[in-house]
Amino acid sequence: MSLIILVLLLYVVQAQVPFLGPCPNVTSMEGFQVEKYLGKWYEIERYFAVFEFAGKCVTAEYSKNSDETVAVHNKQSSSITGERSAIMGVAKVVGRPDGGRLSVRFPSLPVQFEAPYWILDTDYENYSVVWSCLDFGIVNTRNTWILTRARTPNPEIMNKAYSILDKMGIDRNLLLKTDQENCSDHT
Ligand SMILES: *[C@@H]1O[C@H](CO)[C@@H](O)[C@H](O)[C@H]1NC(C)=O
Ligand SMILES: *[C@@H]1O[C@H](CO)[C@@H](O)[C@H](O)[C@H]1NC(C)=O
Ligand SMILES: *[C@@H]1O[C@H](CO)[C@@H](O)[C@H](O)[C@H]1NC(C)=O
Repeated sequence: MSLIILVLLLYVVQAQVPFLGPCPNVTSMEGFQVEKYLGKWYEIERYFAVFEFAGKCVTAEYSKNSDETVAVHNKQSSSITGERSAIMGVAKVVGRPDGGRLSVRFPSLPVQFEAPYWILDTDYENYSVVWSCLDFGIVNTRNTWILTRARTPNPEIMNKAYSILDKMGIDRNLLLKTDQENCSDHT
């Protein structure tokens, strides 16, 4: 299989931005507390991801399952039809409980994979910066998200999130803003 085909395949399957080489050296936060992280987050910016294409009003809600895993409930509205859709996932802590590293899978997707979900930093009340990189040897796929508790966060909070990406050397030019305008409040 040629590299181009492989990259395209990964691009579609992982639905994330592909890069040559290994994952960059990014560190997740210390002292992560999953309990404080639960609840609803609004997606403000992200890298391009196929599964979110044409999605607006994107939210993620995290809750505790009885077996210590975390239930992931992602919702978005189609920018074209306005139709609301949801996908359920299951996240589990990887490594140290407070190491800020989780992995998420979405049992309803046709292709099963565990996507890393690393919390680079969060203050639990305002913002979270999430990183996901999968290493395939010659290529890696990357995604990053800025999530906030408010649908329209103030610039101070966004600057805090940007400074974390800059500190980790994560390219901010690839970030796309999620449309959170004209969303209904109960979605
Ligand atoms: C990755 O970064 C950490 C912290 O900045 C550093 O201690 C470590 O040596 C780095 N590892 C590599 C392979 O560069
Ligand atoms: C969240 O942001 C508000 C407003 O900027 C600030 O007062 C509050 O201390 C922040 N929360 C945390 C946990 O830093
Ligand atoms: C939101 O709705 C207002 C009023 O209907 C409209 O003027 C504006 O263009 C809409 N914004 C977006 C991003 O759709």
